[in-house]
Amino acid sequence: MKPEIAGSESPMLGDLIVGRIDELAAISETEKHLTRIFLTAQHRAAADLLLSWMSEAGMRAHLDAIGNVCGRYEGERSGLPCLMLGSHYDTVRDAGKWDGPLGLITAICCVAELHRRGRRLPFAVEVAGFADEEGVRFSSTLLGSRAVAGTFDESVLNTRDKAGLTMREALQKFGLDPDHIGAAARARRELLAYVELHIEQGPVLEAENLPVGVVTAISGATRLVAALQGMAGHAGTVPMGLRRDALAGAAESILAIESYCAARPGLVGTVGHILAEPGATNVIPGRASFTMDIRAAGDTGRQAAVAELIKQIEAIAQRRNLAPAITVTHENRTVACADWLKAQIADAVAKEGYRILELPSGAGHDGMAMIDITDVAMLFVRCRGGISHHPDEHADSADVETGARVLLRVIDNFQPRRDTQT
Ligand code: HGY
Ligand code: MN
Ligand code: MN
Repeated sequence: MKPEIAGSESPMLGDLIVGRIDELAAISETEKHLTRIFLTAQHRAAADLLLSWMSEAGMRAHLDAIGNVCGRYEGERSGLPCLMLGSHYDTVRDAGKWDGPLGLITAICCVAELHRRGRRLPFAVEVAGFADEEGVRFSSTLLGSRAVAGTFDESVLNTRDKAGLTMREALQKFGLDPDHIGAAARARRELLAYVELHIEQGPVLEAENLPVGVVTAISGATRLVAALQGMAGHAGTVPMGLRRDALAGAAESILAIESYCAARPGLVGTVGHILAEPGATNVIPGRASFTMDIRAAGDTGRQAAVAELIKQIEAIAQRRNLAPAITVTHENRTVACADWLKAQIADAVAKEGYRILELPSGAGHDGMAMIDITDVAMLFVRCRGGISHHPDEHADSADVETGARVLLRVIDNFQPRRDTQT
């Protein structure tokens, strides 16, 4: 086994990665904002670019049955189980350019470096670019990684996007066969582990003056949609006391969510989208719907908060003579990163000369799906001000370089867990 990569030998990957982040960020729904949504023309263009980088890196690359980009770099002999790396390449609306692509492009560039050196390992290395982690289009998240984990829920094929297209129709329009998604699923024996590099999307590493950190767990989340049915009416003639104003009911509910969560440390509640109908200035809204995203440090706390908030919204609706309909659209449990993997990441961080900091992830990641077929771990890279899901999201190229060097060490020194040795 060749000696591990010494600091001096490892290349300056940071500039290459930053350049590719910018190149990928140019593929967006609109010029002014970065938005790249599942099964759109931008998804296809981004996939083509990523597949070309994977091939250049010496990987066999293909688009799988749900639109993930998949690259495989063989080990010392072909067919070996793999260390899977990756992240997602879809974005939220008006996004930052690092959330997802940093981990994916860094993984591709690390494999390119192994290829440049002609380095072959006692395991394969695969890179997965997941097509839909954010769940913007169909409000159900982790679609790509769930397909790989074999846990894709076929019922989501009937959900409709804002234009009324079902996921089934969108897959067909994109050139994929919705009845074939099962082909993306991998078997547990094919994977040794899943390791994802990602920007922290929070302020801790910056506060600790560290470029990288080791993730302990990925917080679970519950997403809901609440619809309140009232009665539309004339803005000028219906006295206030006789109204069944759905938007006013939604507004009171949203403030109730905010104050309930603000009073409980570690609990966060977000209403990201609201729709009032019929949506005319001089008509009392007869119907209002809004989304909720509830997260907490642990699953029981989150589930208790969700139950209490549903109760509060129902009480508001009753008092206002509105009919409530509240549905859970997505639920992810908190996922612990594997100790044996964390130890190998921590060792790589130490060998790069940095203090080891362990921290939880408040954001969700594809590891929440990949845990169903393999052990998972994450390496965080500092991002400025902890800003994310915002165009000001930013990672310094020096930190990008450090993240790449740590990830390359993790790959180069990776020791599969004894019971998964080939
Ligand atoms: O919402 C999240 O936590 C992730 O960015 N999808
Ligand atoms: Mn995100
Ligand atoms: Mn992300």
